[in-house]
Amino acid sequence: MKNLEDYAIAYTKPESALLSEIAKDVQNKPGSQMLSGPLVSQFLKMLIKMTAAYRVLDIGTFTGYSAVSMAEALPENGLVISIESSQPTLEAAKSYFAQSLHAQKIRPILGEALEVLPQLSETFDLIFIDADKSKVIEYYELALSRLKSGGIIVIDDVLWRGEVLEVAPADKRAVAMQKLNQHILEDNRVENLILPIRHGLNLVLKK
Ligand SMILES: C[S@@+](CC[C@H](N)C(=O)[O-])C[C@H]1O[C@@H](n2cnc3c(N)ncnc32)[C@H](O)[C@@H]1O
Repeated sequence: MKNLEDYAIAYTKPESALLSEIAKDVQNKPGSQMLSGPLVSQFLKMLIKMTAAYRVLDIGTFTGYSAVSMAEALPENGLVISIESSQPTLEAAKSYFAQSLHAQKIRPILGEALEVLPQLSETFDLIFIDADKSKVIEYYELALSRLKSGGIIVIDDVLWRGEVLEVAPADKRAVAMQKLNQHILEDNRVENLILPIRHGLNLVLKK
């Protein structure tokens, strides 16, 4: 095994056959690094099961990997709303949703998350934020307003390849993530914990 992440994957319950197929299909395609992967997937699934979540929001569908993961963990009456701003990307994800035994739990929505979110009537138990990094504080604020008390937000990539450690990161996505992490630290409405899983997850609990 090459590193601790490989070890963690090897000793974590494996992803489903469909999730493995999605990951394999995207492997050599542009943007493949955007797929969240087996550790994040299993973490989201465990959170859903541990908290008995049944209304879940997925901001940033891409291949549908996180949406399918969460649908697999939800009860029969569960719902994942998955928002994606790129039409071709969402069409490709829909072909994977159609292959899932849990397809009836997934509602894909085409659109810009900041426009779609205010139109949703649901209150969510868990929200996974994994879209454009430049607007991540706006997604966070909107997500928090749509989250029930005791609900959870998980934000991906908050350590941005370790670049948040730099005093003045060159990459604007690292700057955005640093601002978000500071924003959450100062936010009295929530408890939080940063976990160094893959590129970093900020786990946020609404009081
Ligand atoms: C990192 S990928 C999502 C990965 C996916 N959640 C997973 O677990 O594999 C980000 C996706 O968000 C989409 N996106 C970016 N900005 C968006 C926005 N403002 N609203 C909706 N989708 C957005 C991108 O097109 C891209 O497909």
